[in-house]
Amino acid sequence: LGKQIVFKESVESTQKEAHKIAEEAVEGTLVIAEEQKAGRGRLTRVFHSPKHTGIWMSLILKPDLPLYKAPQFTLIAAVAVAEAIRDTAGLTPEIKWPNDLLINGKKITGILTELQADSDRIHSIIIGIGVNVNQQSFPEELSGIATSLAIEKGEMVPRAQLVQAILKNLERYYEEYMENGFAAIKEKWESLAVSIGRHITARTANGSIRGKALGITDEGVLKLEDEQGAIHSIYSADIEIDQ
Ligand code: BTN
Repeated sequence: LGKQIVFKESVESTQKEAHKIAEEAVEGTLVIAEEQKAGRGRLTRVFHSPKHTGIWMSLILKPDLPLYKAPQFTLIAAVAVAEAIRDTAGLTPEIKWPNDLLINGKKITGILTELQADSDRIHSIIIGIGVNVNQQSFPEELSGIATSLAIEKGEMVPRAQLVQAILKNLERYYEEYMENGFAAIKEKWESLAVSIGRHITARTANGSIRGKALGITDEGVLKLEDEQGAIHSIYSADIEIDQ
């Protein structure tokens, strides 16, 4: 992965650039920028991506797989990035389902997986990864919820080394996944996840559900047991861990 690299000083969003080239790009093409003017988060949110401080990148994969497997790639990426941060910066993030990495309860990484597909097969998966690396401070509205590796560690972290470690891990887990399936990665994911076994509130498009997070399925779907003992499958939500 990352044999083809599209590097840009400034873009609106590396996701947007990756979408434009995905069809003709070779698998493993990486779009990476020093700054995003309109970085995209989940659910139409903006992802703050200031110049020269973080890792803002989108990776194009082309697995020959059915569409329903796509959510697993967010979880593969979360494990790959968490371990890269651990090995490069010596800090161990926790995963908050489905796609956030947290250190001391604050967001260090966001992952956005988007697709080009027909009705049942994946053409391209675009995995967008944003890591807050060397920011010294955040705008007021983010300072309570976001942090950077430099703030947590008290020293700067080399971005190039971290990008390399992320790509290396992604390549390893992607190969492992295509050969042996999701089981081993799922186990790692669960061991890094903060929410499993805890009481959480999941805010979905159809309202909130409170209950105990039981784990994830092989498809990356969150299983939640509500107070009446009914089991819910959560495909997309924001979760909050109850205190
Ligand atoms: C989220 O936390 O909601 C997901 C954030 C994903 C941000 C990354 S940064 C690189 C790539 N380009 C984007 O516009 N978004 C993703």
